Amino acid sequence: MQTENDRLVAHVARLGEEHPPIPMDSVDFTVNDPAGFGDRFGHVLDYMARVELEVDRNVLEISTMLPNPPEVDKRFYAEVWQPQEIQHGLILDRLQQLLGRPPATTDLDHVGLKLKVLGLLAHLEPFQDVCRMLYYLTGMATERSAVIAYNLLHDGVIETGEHAVAETVIAPIKRQEPGHYAFYQLSARAHWATLAAWQKWLVRRMRRISFAPVGVNNVTQLADFGEVMETLGVDHEGRDLAADVARVEQELLWARDRGLPVPDYVTRAFREAVEAAAARRAAVRLGM
Ligand SMILES: [Fe+2]
Ligand SMILES: [Fe+2]
Repeated sequence: MQTENDRLVAHVARLGEEHPPIPMDSVDFTVNDPAGFGDRFGHVLDYMARVELEVDRNVLEISTMLPNPPEVDKRFYAEVWQPQEIQHGLILDRLQQLLGRPPATTDLDHVGLKLKVLGLLAHLEPFQDVCRMLYYLTGMATERSAVIAYNLLHDGVIETGEHAVAETVIAPIKRQEPGHYAFYQLSARAHWATLAAWQKWLVRRMRRISFAPVGVNNVTQLADFGEVMETLGVDHEGRDLAADVARVEQELLWARDRGLPVPDYVTRAFREAVEAAAARRAAVRLGM
C-alpha cells in the first residue's frame, strides 16, 4: 500500500523530471513598450524577483530551524525548489533590468534571531516537529500566493499585448508553482496528523503571532506587497485572497472552531498591506 511518504517521494521525483529549471536562453525578452510596461508592472516584477531570489535565505532558515529534515524534504529543497525558484528570480530580475529598472535588493543570508532560537529549541525532537509544521504552513501560504499572483500577472501581461513576456517568462514560471504548493500541502496534511495535542496548540499560538504575507519582513515591504495586490487586482470581482491563501490552514488548524471562515490574522495581515500602501501614496502626494 502506498503511504503518504511514498506519495510525497513520487511527487518530488516527478517535479524534478517534468520541471527542470527554466533555461535563461529559452526566454524571449522582447518588450514592445518598455516604458509603459515598466510603469504598470515594474514594481510587481521587482517584488517577485526579490522573493524568488531570497529562496537562498529560505534554505538557510530551513537548515537553522530544522536541523534534521526528512530525506524527501532535503531532496525537494535541493533538487526541485531552490533550483527552480532561483531561476524564476534571475529571469524576472533580468527582465526588470532590461526595462531600465535597478536590480532587486535582496537579503540572502540574514537569519533572524527568532529563527536561531527556534533552531536551538528544535534540537529537541518534539519541538522540531512544531517548527516543521510552521514551515509547511508558511510554504503553503507562500506558494498559493505565488500561484494566484502569476495567474493574475499572466492575464495582465496578455492584456498589455506583451506576448513574448507572457508566453516565455510568466507562463513557464506559473506552471512550476502549483507543484511547490502541492508539496507543502501534502507535507502539512501528513505532518499535522502526527502531532500531539500540545504540539497542535503550540502551532496555532505561534502561527497566530508570526504570520506575514509572502516576502514581508518590514513596513516598507508590507506597503510594497499592498501595491502588488492592487496592481494585480487580487481583491477585485469578489475574490478573497486571504480565504484562498489560508483555505487548507483554516481546515487543518481551525476547523473545530466555529465562526470565522478565514483565520483573522491572515485577513488582518492582507488588510494592513493595502492600508500601508495607501498611507505611503498619501504621504508621497503630500510631499512628506
Ligand atoms: Fe517561483
Ligand atoms: Fe514556488
